[in-house]
Amino acid sequence: MEKIVALCKRRGFIFQSSEIYGGLASTYDYGHYGVLLKGNVKAEWWRAVVQERDDVVALDAAILMHPRTWEASGHLDGFTDPLVQCLGKCKRRWREDHLREDLAARGLPADGELRCPECGGELSEPRNFNLMFETHMGPVQDEGSRVYLRPETAQGIFVNFKNVLQFSRKRPPFGIAQAGKSFRNEITPGNFIFRTREFEQMEVEFFVAPDDAGRWHEHWLEERTRWYTELGLRPDHLQLRAHGPDELSHYSSATSDIEYRFPMGWSELEGIANRGNFDLTQHARFSGEKLEYVDSGTGERYVPHVIEPSAGADRATLAFMVDAYDEEEVEGRQRVVLRLHPRLAPVKVAVLPLVNKEGQPETARELYQELRRRMPAEYDAGGSIGKRYRRQDEIGTPFGVTVDHQTMEDRTVTLRDRDSLTQERLPLEGLPDELARRLAAPWRSPKHNA
Ligand code: GAP
Repeated sequence: MEKIVALCKRRGFIFQSSEIYGGLASTYDYGHYGVLLKGNVKAEWWRAVVQERDDVVALDAAILMHPRTWEASGHLDGFTDPLVQCLGKCKRRWREDHLREDLAARGLPADGELRCPECGGELSEPRNFNLMFETHMGPVQDEGSRVYLRPETAQGIFVNFKNVLQFSRKRPPFGIAQAGKSFRNEITPGNFIFRTREFEQMEVEFFVAPDDAGRWHEHWLEERTRWYTELGLRPDHLQLRAHGPDELSHYSSATSDIEYRFPMGWSELEGIANRGNFDLTQHARFSGEKLEYVDSGTGERYVPHVIEPSAGADRATLAFMVDAYDEEEVEGRQRVVLRLHPRLAPVKVAVLPLVNKEGQPETARELYQELRRRMPAEYDAGGSIGKRYRRQDEIGTPFGVTVDHQTMEDRTVTLRDRDSLTQERLPLEGLPDELARRLAAPWRSPKHNA
């Protein structure tokens, strides 16, 4: 993980937030390449869940919602983690459930008395700690002005169920997709962008007839696993894990996590829950609105059940980076390379004049101007060619095009492939089409076989 954090800083993907003030714990800012990479992750998610389907529509609900939402959803009462504090020297706070899970994972007895993992001190009795961030709306800060930063995007979808049913001409089975910021006052954030207090989620709430819920749960487990592997994650670094009965959230009748083998071990990448009709029933009760589906042909009415694939955009970005990170020795030199799927790579092609003379920069710039209309491209003329290749390797650019002496004679360029390091001589004319063709081709990480 340290290597990923260092690369992210070195190449401007992700920085510590408010660094000049000493940083704000577990909050991060995305720089240029980070914005492009996470943007591509989200774009691929939208493509898979909306563009390539007929049965899911998009939504963008507000972060601030009516406070009754959180009473109905159960978050005000139930969205808590068990907090224990060290009564010894270090006074650190821990999640009791995580401490017990860690012991169990190491084959140690997990249900007895716990000690502080940092200093061995005694721990306090667990206390339920609510994860919601509160703020106030308007100039008066009293009970009546209290609102919450949403802890999940899902509730924005449930409260809009009726609107979407009316205006999108959909009927179950159909889904509503939303991506956006969520906030949780996590007790133990950490592992870089894996667990933070402000993060982005990508969620689908898929509404189905009650009897169909099991089948659709299976469908989404398969679809979402396929999404990660198609975008390059190694299948042997992914696994499905069904939640045990004592682990299920208050709303869920069945949940399976897609887990990725992060550097700190197998951890949740995305949760896929069968939420039953819990949310629509609760919101109908609290709002007084009927939230059900009525079949105009048969008159049949029911409260749809919900299957929810819920992913984290930051966590997925981290998984793609971890999976792509590679080091190898080439001609006696160490090379760091991000073997990202070309569709995820922040920059698709770098155009590099070999030397800054003989008309090479002008020809390279002309090609760059043409390419950037078609795909994210970069022009780089600074430093030795080796140094420029290394920079592009570290940000995961799949193709490098070098304009050299021969280009000026026969209008051909060298196309360098990030993964195989092969160099081909290709005509300048038609190069944008050729690159677009190669970028659209199926891709498999060379790390699959390693
Ligand atoms: N609506 C259901 C829900 O929010 P969740 O398992 O709590 O379920 C879903 O969250 C996904 O959101 C997780 O699998 C993870 O990818 C992401 N996520 C949750 N908490 C996070 C945090 N503190 N930091 C980063 N990502 C988080």
